[in-house]
Amino acid sequence: MYNEKVMDHFMNPRNVGEIEDAEAVGQVGNPSCGDIMKMYLKIDKNEVITDVKFKTFGCGSAIATSSMATEMIKGKTVKEALQLTNKAVVEALDGLPPAKVHCSVLAERAVKAAIYNYAKERNLVYEELVGFDPNDDHEHDEYEEG
Ligand code: FES
Repeated sequence: MYNEKVMDHFMNPRNVGEIEDAEAVGQVGNPSCGDIMKMYLKIDKNEVITDVKFKTFGCGSAIATSSMATEMIKGKTVKEALQLTNKAVVEALDGLPPAKVHCSVLAERAVKAAIYNYAKERNLVYEELVGFDPNDDHEHDEYEEG
């Protein structure tokens, strides 16, 4: 059911843990299953994400997609990280079973939630976050199902 890459990221997830002095921390829940993901980002003065860690209370697909998402945003700028879509994460994992694509939304939203809190504390505005609400637990149509 799961390809090798997904299994690898599930069995050996990258960047699991916490960052105590993280500049950005965000937590989101998946409304369809109740799973939770927390994301920590270290961001330097040039807005480069120098370190990323995550914790997921969730299924294998949530773990694999968070692991891949952290790899994809490490070393990127905040603006670049905001471009990360769940679809890109799924593609980087060479695909997920259709019934599990919704799990990948958690990774995208957790990154956005962390940056949302970072921006709020610093009075920064990112146009990519307009309309984003980390506490919004409703199903969304804007995420692509595969
Ligand atoms: Fe909940 Fe996958 S079943 S995130």
